[in-house]
Amino acid sequence: MDKTAANQMWGGRFSAGPDAIMEAINASISFDKRLAPQDIAGSRAHAAMLAATGIITREDAAEIDRGLQQVLAEIEAGAFTFSTALEDIHMNVENRLREIIGAPAGRLHTARSRNDQVALDFRLWVREQCDAAIAGLEALMRAFLVQAEAGADWVMPGFTHLQTAQPVTWGHHMLAYVEMFARDKSRFQDARARMNECPLGAAALAGTSFPIDRHMVASALGFDRPTANSLDTTADRDFALEFLSAASICAMHLSRFAEELVIWSSAQFRFVRMSDRFSTGSSIMPQKRNPDAAELLRAKLGRILGATVALFTVMKGLPLTYSKDMQEDKEQVFDAADNLLLGLAAMEGMVSDLTANRVALEAAASSGFSTATDLADWLVRELNLPFRDAHHVTGSLVKLAEDKGCDLPDLSLEEMQNVHGEITQAVYSVLGVQNSVASRTSYGGTAPANVRAQIARWKEVLG
Ligand code: ARG
Repeated sequence: MDKTAANQMWGGRFSAGPDAIMEAINASISFDKRLAPQDIAGSRAHAAMLAATGIITREDAAEIDRGLQQVLAEIEAGAFTFSTALEDIHMNVENRLREIIGAPAGRLHTARSRNDQVALDFRLWVREQCDAAIAGLEALMRAFLVQAEAGADWVMPGFTHLQTAQPVTWGHHMLAYVEMFARDKSRFQDARARMNECPLGAAALAGTSFPIDRHMVASALGFDRPTANSLDTTADRDFALEFLSAASICAMHLSRFAEELVIWSSAQFRFVRMSDRFSTGSSIMPQKRNPDAAELLRAKLGRILGATVALFTVMKGLPLTYSKDMQEDKEQVFDAADNLLLGLAAMEGMVSDLTANRVALEAAASSGFSTATDLADWLVRELNLPFRDAHHVTGSLVKLAEDKGCDLPDLSLEEMQNVHGEITQAVYSVLGVQNSVASRTSYGGTAPANVRAQIARWKEVLG
């Protein structure tokens, strides 16, 4: 029987035989070649340690180091031929090293396994993504701060259920996102701190009998310490799951502002104008300015959360220690990280370019009986009504205004007094939206004075 031919029963779709199919499902080089810089950095630290501890000679270590630098240069120059037959980045690099330096290359893998090697490479990569996400979040927070400062006292409607609720300030709304993205930043910082232990030296799963110095490798690669249990080390992908979890929450936050941009930029709202840089036209309707970038950002959580669920599902129920299932971790994390960083950059651009329509914001804030709560509060404060009664009186006044097709400040004093006899002229002072927001001075409230204090605090935090 021809071993290279596809299977007679189910192989109609396959042009190659079982061996080639095995190679295709087994190889990870098509995607884990992204780990080349981390793989080579890890190998250089490992070789230096092997020499320092006398496990290999200094001459061999020097050759290995020289060869690894050349391999990296070739990869960076695009002059490296990746081979599927060599399965993954680890074996591709080592094979090329052997071609360049010959026999000493065979000593590099002493006291090491691909199991701790891949754990190291991937951890280094994810750690870099945490740093990139933190930088992206800081840039985004700064963009929101600029918006907040420009419109610290601009009035807009605050919504619950997307129904006009109470007037708030534009600055306060912008700062709400600064809070969210600051929490995201701290999640990436926490994840980074927890993942910052060096896996190398766990070897295949049980550690090694060679007198290695794991602390030396850990500090050479910027880790706080080596991991403490070799079984856990080769089995662990928590660092990737934490990154994905933090990325999912962050992408969820991005999606929420993206949605607000879609709503706010619509002709019905006109709260903001998106810049040309982040809008597209329609090929048939000349009046259209579509917020495509915002819509895509609204959608990005789909794939990022999808990656998170995918990796949880891969890891669920895996017995200790390494199983090949875990090779399915990388594409998910790569895709999620790429899209998160792109999303952060796109949102930063959109926020920086955003023009708020102060007039439309204020007009919307003044409609929809947005100061009804202020009126109720006034009845409590000035007439000593219980809040429930004040709520009832206010409801009657809102109904009256609604029937007349006017807003609360348009009702005459006489009309108000027909509903409650003790209401005085002074009530009008709380019915204006500016007064309403200025009065919300409780800590964390929307008053412009609070907003300015928070802006100052955030400026200090962000430096
Ligand atoms: N390509 C593998 C991965 O990504 C590397 C580790 C392989 N280890 C092994 N024992 N086959 O997980």
